[in-house]
Amino acid sequence: MDRIRIRGGNRLQGEIPISGAKNAALPLMIASLLTDETLTLRNVPRLADVQLLLRIIRNHGADMTVDGKRAGQLGHGETIHLTARQIVDTVAPYDLVSKMRASFWVLGPILARCGEARISLPGGCAIGTRPVDLHLMGMEKLGAKIELDGGYVVASAPKGLTGNRIVFPKVSVGATHNVLMAAALAKGESILENAAREPEVGDLAECLQKMGAKIEGIGTSRLIVQGVDRLHGATHSVLPDRIEAGTYAMAAGMAGGDVKLVGARGDLFDVLFGILAQAGIEMTTEADGLRVQRDGNGIEPVNVETQPFPGFPTDLQAQFMALMCKSTGTAAVRETIFENRFMHVQELVRLGAEITLNGDTALVHGVETLRGAEVMATDLRASVSLVIAALAAEGETTISRVYHLDRGFESLEGKLTHCGADIERISG
Ligand code: UD1
Repeated sequence: MDRIRIRGGNRLQGEIPISGAKNAALPLMIASLLTDETLTLRNVPRLADVQLLLRIIRNHGADMTVDGKRAGQLGHGETIHLTARQIVDTVAPYDLVSKMRASFWVLGPILARCGEARISLPGGCAIGTRPVDLHLMGMEKLGAKIELDGGYVVASAPKGLTGNRIVFPKVSVGATHNVLMAAALAKGESILENAAREPEVGDLAECLQKMGAKIEGIGTSRLIVQGVDRLHGATHSVLPDRIEAGTYAMAAGMAGGDVKLVGARGDLFDVLFGILAQAGIEMTTEADGLRVQRDGNGIEPVNVETQPFPGFPTDLQAQFMALMCKSTGTAAVRETIFENRFMHVQELVRLGAEITLNGDTALVHGVETLRGAEVMATDLRASVSLVIAALAAEGETTISRVYHLDRGFESLEGKLTHCGADIERISG
């Protein structure tokens, strides 16, 4: 298994190209199942999760071709053409769905297009920490009959889905994607209340519009969909990854330096501007991206609480905690979206961080020096928080289980090396 070795202490200087957003690319690829025509997606990031989802949707009958393979070129996503002329299999098996939770979102498109779907529950987290009850409630409101059978959701709507008003009791990105795709092909009007407002939901909705869907309220928590009989092909470019951009902004803040995040869009996370400014990191909008600077001065402690968009994203919580490890005081980091999303804490402590956990809140007491150590990646965002801490730690850090990083960060070592970081991948 690959490991990553980082020798801390280098300032970051230069440009980092921001890739297409993983969390937009995945639902967009799934949207290709809604039509028998070709959906062309540009700026698709080269990620393990994208490859896995391709396998999953091909299993349902999507054919795929890829343009312009320029492996290794930073910042140039791939263009993929997906054509699901026919859904050849309405079953999404456990061995595929359990590897990636987002693949559960094929439920909406397959059910809407075929009137039936048998989708595995996404692994052991079905009840407890990451349930799918909101997805199922949405499908039932659209008239589907839902049964659970041997770990599978069996959904049927032999006469098609019918529009309805769906009020989500809790904001869920995945349930919004799933129900929005299903409603696009339902008969009549659907109103999704308390829908997720994440930019990736907006990106999916805009792509669906290009495919012929009728959607109003994009970017708000009330999406109004007039169902259509069929959707057609379209071409859409995946929006830039705000989580990747925020991660590198914090890396630059942590290591110090001056970095341009090429292609990043400030409007996708204005809450971060204020928070990083309070921490003493300057972020400015430029014509072709965002510039992040921190010179010599200390990092100020800032309290944050994760919230659905436009609040502070849970997907940046671990990275922000790493940044706070070197602040000049104590910062409270509260996680309100997911329980147990503090697996990075014990690994950061191995690097010398002082963190106390109290329920959903971590108190991060800044230290002057972090020291390199052997640590383990535990999930996607947690693992990149270790990279951020290691960039500012004295000596050498080795991170194992980096396949977590490869799921969501394209060319991480390449992008950081390009800016002067001492980071390398050790294969095997
Ligand atoms: C997506 C993102 C993930 C991000 C998360 C929150 C992708 C591929 N993943 O995950 O990176 O961290 O949004 O921004 O885009 N919930 C329920 N019932 C449900 C569904 C969700 O209770 O049926 C709960 C979850 O347990 C969680 C909260 O709702 O507490 C938000 O989860 P959700 O927004 O659905 O996350 P995902 O879509 O899985």
